[in-house]
Amino acid sequence: MPRNPTDPSEIWAQSLETLLDAAWARLVRGVRDKRAAARQVTLSTLGANGWPQARTVVLRGADKDAGQLEVHTDLRSAKVAELRADPRATLHVWDARVHLQIRAELRAEILTGAQVAARWDRVPDGSRMAYGSAPAPGQPIAQALEYTKEPNAQDFAVVQLQVLAFDLVHLGRNHRRARFEHADGWAGQWLAP
Ligand SMILES: Cc1cc2nc3c(=O)[nH]c(=O)nc-3n(C[C@H](O)[C@H](O)[C@H](O)COP(=O)(O)O)c2cc1C
Repeated sequence: MPRNPTDPSEIWAQSLETLLDAAWARLVRGVRDKRAAARQVTLSTLGANGWPQARTVVLRGADKDAGQLEVHTDLRSAKVAELRADPRATLHVWDARVHLQIRAELRAEILTGAQVAARWDRVPDGSRMAYGSAPAPGQPIAQALEYTKEPNAQDFAVVQLQVLAFDLVHLGRNHRRARFEHADGWAGQWLAP
């Protein structure tokens, strides 16, 4: 069956190379632009009891050359324990502006203490509140507001995420899907959407 001609404004989705570049560009934009779709992303992990877990996190770093993404969290949160037990994670973004779904398969490393001291120095005061609540995140409390927030550098954790693979779906006039793997040098492979 003949395909519709591709909208010229979506020319970047036509080649594997430019599609992958576009995904990285959207991730980098998420780090810099609070209103970008990739600012607040979904990070999923393998739950301790085997149940898949997913939560919203702010994307704090995206480095194409290093193939790395970064998020910040409280060291005592469930996601840290889950990633220490099994470092596999998936990040998901639906970027409606460019009609692009990004799924990234990742291997996580948890950095703490002296390793992240320089990053902690750059965290604004308001954001520091997210690290150091009492009791620890996820602990039961008798009343909804029975907790305090006292910034604590010891509770600050950087989750460094090495990208192992991307699954990209572009919903254009024609839909396109491709998988890219670190293991084959990011050559990419078109997939049926
Ligand atoms: C818009 C939004 C942004 C969030 N950003 C972060 C974040 O950057 N880091 C983080 O640890 N939790 C963030 N959270 C809270 C998480 O979604 C989650 O509730 C919390 O980290 C506990 O998750 P866990 O028990 O799976 O570890 C955010 C929540 C929302 C709604």
